[in-house]
Amino acid sequence: MRHLLGSGRAVEITTVAQRPEFAGAAIDVGGWGDFMRHNRISEAYFWQTLEAFPATCLVATAEDGSVVADAHAVQLRLGGRDRAPLPAGGWEQAVVWAFADARHGVVPDTACALNISVARGFQEQGLASRMLTALRETVAGLGLGNLLAPVRPTFKEFEPRTPMVEYARRVRPDGLPCDPWLRTHVRAGGQIVGIAPTSWLVSGTLDEWRRWTGLAFDRSGAVEVPGALTTVHCDIDSGWAVYVEPNVWVRHEI
Ligand SMILES: CC(C)(COP(=O)(O)OP(=O)(O)OC[C@H]1O[C@@H](n2cnc3c(N)ncnc32)[C@H](O)[C@@H]1OP(=O)(O)O)[C@@H](O)C(=O)NCCC(=O)NCCS
Repeated sequence: MRHLLGSGRAVEITTVAQRPEFAGAAIDVGGWGDFMRHNRISEAYFWQTLEAFPATCLVATAEDGSVVADAHAVQLRLGGRDRAPLPAGGWEQAVVWAFADARHGVVPDTACALNISVARGFQEQGLASRMLTALRETVAGLGLGNLLAPVRPTFKEFEPRTPMVEYARRVRPDGLPCDPWLRTHVRAGGQIVGIAPTSWLVSGTLDEWRRWTGLAFDRSGAVEVPGALTTVHCDIDSGWAVYVEPNVWVRHEI
């Protein structure tokens, strides 16, 4: 569907199922820090998502045909004996279960958004909100009851030592979340339903972390890394550092 943004520019939002030429592409317009690109579950699965779940992945294209926003969402079955309805392992757990379900022909009951990203020149014009609304409508059209999202609150990086549970609880006088990205989800109809404490892990040697961040990693303990939502744990004696990112579970009942 065609959308006119605040800037007057038009974009077209479609599913990848409607634009199969994108299914084999590696699309990710998000401006992630280098260290964020070293999650091994993501390395294994993210690039396959458009092809495996084209009905729940969206792209927004500008008038020149370039992709200016993307939303990747997988489909899976949640609950039951072996699966928590809101897994502590958040993003990673949802991806692993979704690909296992697809392989074994399990009928999904839930969509789980992995990201919504907007290219720099198209940010702050309401495009992310439109992508989220389009994703909700797409999920509804498929007859899935829930859209879940392990949300990465955008301003959490400015206070990495605040516990996520405390951060996610903060609201403005109008009752909406202080964080802009959580606010967008809640305004669209989502509810904050929990924390996924071990949603996204990045581990590496000290040399790898130095290369990814340009920081010294020369002392054991908590290291603040720009773009990280919490501190990175550095262990000099063992020669490694690990980042365990918590996300916020948001449920959109459809
Ligand atoms: C987070 C992101 C998707 C937002 O996209 P966007 O199109 O700029 O968002 P919108 O224009 O729809 O705005 C959503 C809300 O965020 C606010 N916002 C967006 N950018 C902001 C900024 N730089 N500073 C302050 N608020 C900002 C908007 O004001 C709006 O809140 P409001 O309606 O209550 O005022 C985009 O910045 C992005 O792609 N970031 C990198 C990837 C990422 O972090 N994705 C989210 C996790 S997967």
